[in-house]
Amino acid sequence: MKKKLKILTYGCQMNVAESERMAGQLKKIGYALTENFSDADLILINTCCVRETAEDKINGKIGELKKYKFSNPNLILGIVGCLAQKDGEEILKRSPHVDFVLGTGQRGELVKVVENFESARKKFVDVSNVSKMIDDENIFPIRNGKISAFVPIMYGCDNFCTYCIVPHVRGRERSRKPEEIFSEVEETLNAGFKEITLLGQNVNSYGKDLKTKNFAELLSEVDKFPKLERLRFMTSHPKDLSDELIEVMAAGKNICEHIHLPVQYGSNKILQKMNRVYTVEKYLELVKKIREKIPEISLTTDLIVGFPGETDDDFKKTLDFLEEVQFDMAFTFIYSERSGTPAVNFDGKVDEEIKHQRLQELMKIQNKISLEKNLKLQGKILEVLVEGESKTDKNIFTGRTRTNKLVLFPHGEEKIGDLIQVKINQVQTWILKGEKI
Ligand code: SAH
Ligand code: SF4
Ligand code: F3S
Repeated sequence: MKKKLKILTYGCQMNVAESERMAGQLKKIGYALTENFSDADLILINTCCVRETAEDKINGKIGELKKYKFSNPNLILGIVGCLAQKDGEEILKRSPHVDFVLGTGQRGELVKVVENFESARKKFVDVSNVSKMIDDENIFPIRNGKISAFVPIMYGCDNFCTYCIVPHVRGRERSRKPEEIFSEVEETLNAGFKEITLLGQNVNSYGKDLKTKNFAELLSEVDKFPKLERLRFMTSHPKDLSDELIEVMAAGKNICEHIHLPVQYGSNKILQKMNRVYTVEKYLELVKKIREKIPEISLTTDLIVGFPGETDDDFKKTLDFLEEVQFDMAFTFIYSERSGTPAVNFDGKVDEEIKHQRLQELMKIQNKISLEKNLKLQGKILEVLVEGESKTDKNIFTGRTRTNKLVLFPHGEEKIGDLIQVKINQVQTWILKGEKI
């Protein structure tokens, strides 16, 4: 009889992709995925620690899972991913019902660790080598969905933004070999997927360690795969988004008109303290260049409010900056202190209440801009890749435009994975509604 595996994933797309890969690894030793905790033989929590809120949620969940250990004493509970990397042994101390903790560099040893635990039932922690290159060549991920696939192209981050824990829990940048990436793309397209998203903490640094292809070259080659319909990538750091990449996107066949380009802040003083290595002026120049070459481009971003030293004047500059750039959408976060990062020791901590006020103000302005941008799409006909039923209404289907906007439309003859033309007749801040034509 097959053993059952439940994976719970927190954090970014990279974690989603890695959970799919862990499911693929464990399939080889007889584990099949289940939706439920209650019938699982093995539960893995793939964790995130980018902000304190994420950590708190995960720690609460780990506590909650204790009850399943009571009802099934043979259940194995493993904690993997970024919080596992950060807290290691501590997790076992806090939660003695956990069986093993495996850091981000040890994902490749998961099968061995699970097999050892099955036979010896001995608690295990390994977070020793965060920068280890993982051989993903012979792992066939069990992907969520059937249309859109994540393909990691590199692991780790070398940028060390002063607020960020990611370089500490993900290790040094290391790129997968182009041939490995191409064969995964090929296999994915042969399995019927239509859309590929290339993933990395900073894809623009791809290949620096291999000295073979750079990111623009890689993207251009993936774009040539015959069965591919849409190609996306994330995330891009503004400091090294090259002219070559913009050219490749503009000339691309299936490369979608969307760039997620986290700016983090709109004042030079704070950008410098964040170690982002670009200025507001440089960022604006980059946006201008991108829009000149790819007029239909949609731009999204990440922003952090409440970074140490932020004054009313800095914040005002950020609001003006938002008005100037006109992002399609922004993900906004309150600065969360991460121990071990340089910003912990910076002066000028911002009061909690002010942080929340600023977040609200920022969101209000960006929501207005997002709605204005969407209003310009009213009446337009856009290509939509059909993704599936809406969660709340079976008669409504959802899909995305090439610019990554979510579209809702009444369900007709179309199937999941079809590319259809939709006339947009109603818009909101985050969604477009329309009808197939
Ligand atoms: N590598 C990607 C994303 C990293 S994490 C990039 O650089 O774009 C995703 C987002 O979380 C970041 O863009 C940043 O806006 C936010 N973030 C990272 N550390 C944070 C912290 N300590 N507090 C609040 N937000 C943070
Ligand atoms: Fe964190 Fe900066 Fe690396 Fe992004 S680029 S993961 S924000 S250190
Ligand atoms: Fe979180 Fe790790 Fe991603 S800290 S945001 S899961 S890289």
